[in-house]
Amino acid sequence: MTLPKAELHLHIEGTLEPELVFELAARNGIALPFADIEDLRSRYSFSDLQSFLDLYYAATIVLQTEADFRALAEAYLDRAAAQGLRHVELFFDPQAHTERGVPIEAVIDGLASALEDAEERLGITGGLILCFLRNLPVESAMATLDSLGDRTSRILGIGLDSTEVGYPPELFTAVYARARDLGLHVVAHAGEEGPPAFVTDTLDLLRAERIDHGIRSLEDPELVARLVAERIPLTVCPLSNVRLKVVDEIADHPLPAMIEAGILVTVNSDDPAYFGGYVGDNYVAIARAFGFDDPALAALARNSVIASFASDSRKAELA
Ligand code: HPA
Ligand code: ZN
Repeated sequence: MTLPKAELHLHIEGTLEPELVFELAARNGIALPFADIEDLRSRYSFSDLQSFLDLYYAATIVLQTEADFRALAEAYLDRAAAQGLRHVELFFDPQAHTERGVPIEAVIDGLASALEDAEERLGITGGLILCFLRNLPVESAMATLDSLGDRTSRILGIGLDSTEVGYPPELFTAVYARARDLGLHVVAHAGEEGPPAFVTDTLDLLRAERIDHGIRSLEDPELVARLVAERIPLTVCPLSNVRLKVVDEIADHPLPAMIEAGILVTVNSDDPAYFGGYVGDNYVAIARAFGFDDPALAALARNSVIASFASDSRKAELA
């Protein structure tokens, strides 16, 4: 699956493979609550988003230094290149690290330097999208944004992730307004477990340029018509939706209906270390489940470039 494509919904902390968890734990002298790699992997069975997030945050404690964040991003970028990715926009969760005492500079500099080198090393362009944890107080999100200082220039945009139900988008209206004033792109998770009204409010109140997941949008025909008319991209993650039980099985995924409706859909991996595959594996899974042929898959790959925040000249190169 080496179609030239972009990945737009990828949590870099969700690429932390068990081997690297144990390697970094040893390097940093951290005692893990898992016996070994096999024990950790045996816990990759989730009942919903929260059950996944609990393990995802537990594993991130091994990430301590700038070099750790750089190693994490380099390992992902190597795999990305092998799967034909030419442009990647990486989500990261700074509050998951600053809350543990890791300086935000170490997080950003480690990730950004890996991305910068990837351009020369692997021919991959991209950027960082700083996600706020929606289950933390909005004051923490605002303080995180304010703490960026001149590192704002190393950030492509902001996003919103973590527990969705109970944390509606309107909580973050002022944070998003500030980020837009700083010239940052704005995206947000919505309609993964939350209702379609969260997608509508994310567009109206946060003025998101893309919606991450958004699969529950299909429950609201008016919203679907709007997504089509305004060409709002949805970054869909099929294997994630199966693993987090947003859908029962891949055959039940609404992706074909979304495409049929005319929505600008992209296919992404979300947290590939946890959900059974990287972006190419997601393409293979939907091709098998829905009988998508090569032109259909190529159209999805093209959508990913169109929906990206790459420059017009880079988009032309990847077309
Ligand atoms: N949804 C919400 N928050 C997340 C996810 C997700 O799929 N992955 C990492 N943080
Ligand atoms: Zn996500």
